[in-house]
Order: sequence, then C-alpha cells, then structure tokens
Amino acid sequence: MTDRFHNPVDTRFGWGSLAQLAELTEHQTVALVTFPEARSLGLVDRIQALLGERLVYIVDDVQPNPDVAQLRGTYERFWQQAGECHTVIAVGGGSAIDTAKALIVGTASGTFDELLGLLASGKPFVPARSKVLIAAPTTAGTGSEVTPWATIWDCASLKKYSLHLECTWPTVAIIDPQLMLTVPGSVTISTGLDALSHALESVWNINANPISDTFAISAIEDILECLPRLHQNLSDPQLRSRMALAALKAGLAFSNTKTALAHSISYEMTLHYGLPHGIACSFTLPLVLGLAWGRDAARDQTLQRIFGNDLLQAQAKLRGFLHSLQVKTEFTDYGVSPSNAEAMIQFAMQGARGKNFIGTQAA
Ligand SMILES: NC(=O)c1ccc[n+]([C@@H]2O[C@H](COP(=O)([O-])OP(=O)(O)OC[C@H]3O[C@@H](n4cnc5c(N)ncnc54)[C@H](O)[C@@H]3O)[C@@H](O)[C@H]2O)c1
Repeated sequence: MTDRFHNPVDTRFGWGSLAQLAELTEHQTVALVTFPEARSLGLVDRIQALLGERLVYIVDDVQPNPDVAQLRGTYERFWQQAGECHTVIAVGGGSAIDTAKALIVGTASGTFDELLGLLASGKPFVPARSKVLIAAPTTAGTGSEVTPWATIWDCASLKKYSLHLECTWPTVAIIDPQLMLTVPGSVTISTGLDALSHALESVWNINANPISDTFAISAIEDILECLPRLHQNLSDPQLRSRMALAALKAGLAFSNTKTALAHSISYEMTLHYGLPHGIACSFTLPLVLGLAWGRDAARDQTLQRIFGNDLLQAQAKLRGFLHSLQVKTEFTDYGVSPSNAEAMIQFAMQGARGKNFIGTQAA
C-alpha cells in the first residue's frame, strides 16, 4: 500500500510575510478582495503602498459566509470592471478567500447564475476563463489558503454549494500572523475551533493516512494547548504565530482528506439555527469522537496518541476544552431536541462530507 499526499500551493509563512506580495505580483495587474474592517485597520492602504499602480480593483465589502444574494452583484461587477486583471489577491478570513475563489471562475456569459447552474449540476466543468489566486488569511481557522474548496451559501433557500476546481487551488498562500493581531476574541475562538475540527475530521476520515495524520496531530496538540492561552492574551505575537501555524497544518491535513461528519452536521446547524461556522463544526466534536472510537484500528491508534486510551476521559477532555472557551457541547444547548439531533446526525452521515466519516462506513 502506498500513501499519497498532494498540495500544489506555494506556501509562505512568517511575521511580516505579507510584504512578499510586491515581488509576487511584479508586472501584473491585481484585484484585491478583502473584509470590511481592512480599510479602517490600515490594511488596504498598506497593500496599496506595496502594489502601487498594479492594484486596479478592490472588493472590500465581503460579509461573513459568502451568500449568493451578495455574490451575484460582486461577481458580475468584477468581470465587467476588472475582467482583464491577471491576479486576484484575497486578504481576509475564509469569507474573503472563498469569495475570491468564486470570482476567479469566469463563466462564458459573465453571469453568476451560469456559475450557480454549473455548481448545482454537481458535475465537474472547465471554466471559460480564470485568474491566478494569491490567498493571505487574516484569521487562523479555515485553511482555505491551502485548499481548493469554497463554500457558497444560499441562506434564503437553505442551501450551500461547494466550489472545487483545479483553478481554485491558490497559487500562493501567504500566512502572516501579524495580520491576525486584530481579530476579536469571539472570532479568534470560533476560527481556532474550525481549525481543530479540520484536524480531527482529517483523522476520523476514510481518506486519512500517516502523512495527513502528521499535520493533524501536530495541529491538534498546538490548538489544545495554545487557544485557551491566546483567548486570555489576544495581542501575544507568539501565540498568534502558533495558532496561525496550527491552522495551516490543519488546512494541509484536510486538503488531502476533506472533512467529515462534524462538518456535515455543521451545515445544517448554520443554515437552520444560524450558528457561526467555527462553533457549528466543533460543538459536536466530543460526540463524533465517541462515534469514531473503535471503528478502525489505525484510526484508534492516532486518536489514542492524542487523547490516551480511555474514551470517556478523551471525550471529557475535549468537552472540558470547549467549555473552557464558553462553547456549549450539547444539541439541546442550541435548541435542537434529542430526536431532531438524531435525525440530523443520520442525515449528515449521508451527505458528501458525512460519507468520509469512518463511523458512517462501518455503520
Ligand atoms: N474553503 C475552505 O476550505 C473553508 C474551510 C472552512 C470554512 N470556510 C468558510 O469560511 C467562512 C468563514 O471564514 P472565517 O471563519 O475565517 O471568518 P470570516 O472570514 O467570515 O471573518 C469573520 C469576521 O472577522 C472579521 N475579520 C477577519 N479578519 C479580521 C482581522 N484580521 N481583524 C479584524 N477582523 C477580521 C471579518 O470581517 C468577519 O466579520 C465560511 O463561509 C466558511 O464556510 C471555508
């Protein structure tokens, strides 16, 4: 048996590494996609100073969880006004990076609905045109800078689409922990838990192997140790750097395995109960750990390296960790009755991500 790991993203990590944008975009025209606070934080001015006249277009009104209702206008304006630019730089959390991934996929008609139609068909397609993507995360969470996926929400229709093409792998990822210093406490927690969920979901996954485990185990150990301390001291550069690296490692792990049951459940919790992504995909982790345990000897070995070999203690550790960050861990805490929770778990197991879960396979 041969284990494989593939990630094509040219990945750069370090305090101040955003400055690399200048040399990376020499002789190119560039569009910037960023989050609303980036202007008042001085980030847009800083990027403008780095890029000078190369920067020809800015999208700075990206809202959390990119939704078709806003994306349609953003997409069509982008292709009308900046269709000629060479590179799109996303500087922001997963919402800005995923928005940029949607923008770079050009349809023949230039309409967003053509893209949605292609996504709804669920079939692979080659876009009529596309752009180079550089991603610089400003949250330590989604790992979107080293994955090809973008989540596009349609809250009005209670749906979500997953965009995934060869061209939606970022060409370059710049992970500069300095950009994360301004992330508020609640977002620091929810994004950090998203990263923890990525790492655990890549372990209890039918696509896991010792290479993805290497990234996942290291990420989990760092997050369990570091996130509560960062919560107490948001301006600590060392803790910000460790969480940035942990989120990157978690991203690398699930870039090869994809996510699993906790994420499949999270989509329901976000669409129907309005939970932020990081909380929605982490509050079930103790429960999913219990469903994973004992399903596969190799997976148990990895889980036991992290949590020891007593399941109840392992679950208590994870539950205690989440509670210490003020995250509640039961469905009833979020207004979901036990029977609705059971139905949701069964439904989530049949979703595309749920089928990656080792417990679903063995069920
Ligand atoms: N593509 C993937 O592989 C992947 C993985 C996980 C999640 N996601 C998606 O990512 C999105 C969530 O991304 P997120 O958790 O990073 O949050 P986000 O991008 O929505 O940002 C959360 C909030 O923090 C603000 N913010 C971001 N960076 C900041 C900074 N440096 N300083 C101050 N404020 C800042 C944003 O404006 C926003 O209000 C969801 O849509 C989710 O579906 C994608």
